[in-house]
Amino acid sequence: MTTRSRTLFLAISAFLFTSAILIQSAEATDDSTRNQLARKDCVRGTFKDFYRQGQGGDPPTSYAGRVFKLSQDYPNHLPPMEDYPWLKIGFENGGPVDPRAYLQALLDYGLEGNVDVDFYVEDNKVRKWYGMPWMDWNTEVASDWPGTDGREFVHGFTHEFDSSGKTLSTLQNDFVDTWSGAYLNDRAGFGVGQVYCDPNNPKPGALNPDPAGLNNFPNGSFIIKLLFSTVNETQLPIVKNALEWKAHVFVNDDPSWRNKGPISRFERAIGAIRLIQIDVSVRDDRSLTGWLLGTFGYDGNAQGDTPWKRMVPLGLQWGNNPKVAFAETCAGPDGPCSREKLTEQWINEQAVKDLATPPLNFDHLGYGGRLAGPVDNAKASCMGCHQTAGFPNVAILPEFSANGAHLKLDASLRPQTEQSFRMMYYGNVASGAVFSASQLYSSDYSLQLSMSLQNFMSLRCTETPREKKSKDSRAPKPEICGQFVQWSKAQKKSIDDLLTFGSPGPEGAPRRSKASD
Ligand code: HEC
Repeated sequence: MTTRSRTLFLAISAFLFTSAILIQSAEATDDSTRNQLARKDCVRGTFKDFYRQGQGGDPPTSYAGRVFKLSQDYPNHLPPMEDYPWLKIGFENGGPVDPRAYLQALLDYGLEGNVDVDFYVEDNKVRKWYGMPWMDWNTEVASDWPGTDGREFVHGFTHEFDSSGKTLSTLQNDFVDTWSGAYLNDRAGFGVGQVYCDPNNPKPGALNPDPAGLNNFPNGSFIIKLLFSTVNETQLPIVKNALEWKAHVFVNDDPSWRNKGPISRFERAIGAIRLIQIDVSVRDDRSLTGWLLGTFGYDGNAQGDTPWKRMVPLGLQWGNNPKVAFAETCAGPDGPCSREKLTEQWINEQAVKDLATPPLNFDHLGYGGRLAGPVDNAKASCMGCHQTAGFPNVAILPEFSANGAHLKLDASLRPQTEQSFRMMYYGNVASGAVFSASQLYSSDYSLQLSMSLQNFMSLRCTETPREKKSKDSRAPKPEICGQFVQWSKAQKKSIDDLLTFGSPGPEGAPRRSKASD
């Protein structure tokens, strides 16, 4: 997509009305059906590893360190469920009876064999792990220049949320940037491998190869995400003795400066980053939504002889409590909030105290007291953002949607409490169902997968000037490009119809909408 059509795309997706789907317990297609219907003729090994690889983005000759390689040999056969440690913990009312133990079991599994190899996961001796394709060209933050958030070459990290001054502590005066990487276990890798079976013709609906089932990852799919920040100990005292890695990151941490362009403002150089958060997500059929999302924050004062052991559990979420409005948990726009009514999550209350006592502000519970990570948007929740994942993608937060401006209409009277629209973002979407009527396929809580498909379109659906001129392109266009064009016409028509509906035209006949002319 060109910058212009991309802007249009964002505008359209933001304009759409979305509707949350109430959950039913998620019925999964069984393994043998997935296997029977899976494509076995997949082409592997063609995805780029990092930003502008082979096109000026390669490591300079002075760089002697290890270079990231995308683990992309996705299995064509769904590997069997293991005897995962979290399966030993029972469930009640759609959530684990011992959430803390459950969360710890997730982390231990995600770290096993990966810590020893510095998360160059293709070297893991215990089990196989995979990465998401098409994150090398990442259009994550809407205002960023297309692609510039793409994977850096040392660890394959993508650029994410920037925390403005004072976000993480009162001692942090300037922007600090987040860089992160996510790793998928073999069952999750199978789903991604089916979507990208033909690397030039991704099929968003093949996440579950069974068209009769919901488009979800198989039960037992697991993803771990490491979040590093450029923040240092002076700005955030608890990062003392944090795990520090080198990565090829932006020279200037301030997005408002970078986004002014030109592209040279996105210059990168090798710099230090520190591990401050670890996220985990797991498909567990026993969960209310089919998923559980949990997070850990680094605390340099915690017990533990390695930085990995000083990662403190912050919370686990298996639902959003869709019926609990803001005013029921929070006394005012800035709290205090009580979390008693939020029964579809577990929060480590001790960690909230330890990490959110000034100068620290490192808990970042999200909307109305729901779980969100320290470097996440504080108005969000883990499951709130993640349930929107799908193709085409939509605004991940109410603030980012076209209706965002309306949320502020009577802010002085009812801050944070414009619930009828907002609470759609705190629904419980079932694993594999779409969040919004404007989406064609669910990407089942994986925002990397929905982003990956968008990144693919950003480069592969663009017409070259020559194609435009000759009106015939030699290579067949990927199907999702055509699907996307049809989709965008349908969205425009439906909005246009809304504007003209019911207004009589000449002789009392219905007025025809522009798009249908
Ligand atoms: C403001 C929206 C937002 C919130 C809140 C949020 N995430 Fe994410 N998350 C994203 C986006 C966007 C991505 C994909 C980008 C990336 O990984 O580079 C992502 C990626 C991930 C991934 C990698 C797998 C995937 O594709 O989904 C995991 C795991 C994850 N988040 C877990 C969490 C957990 C746990 C929380 C809460 C502590 C959380 N997220 C809160 C937006 C959010």
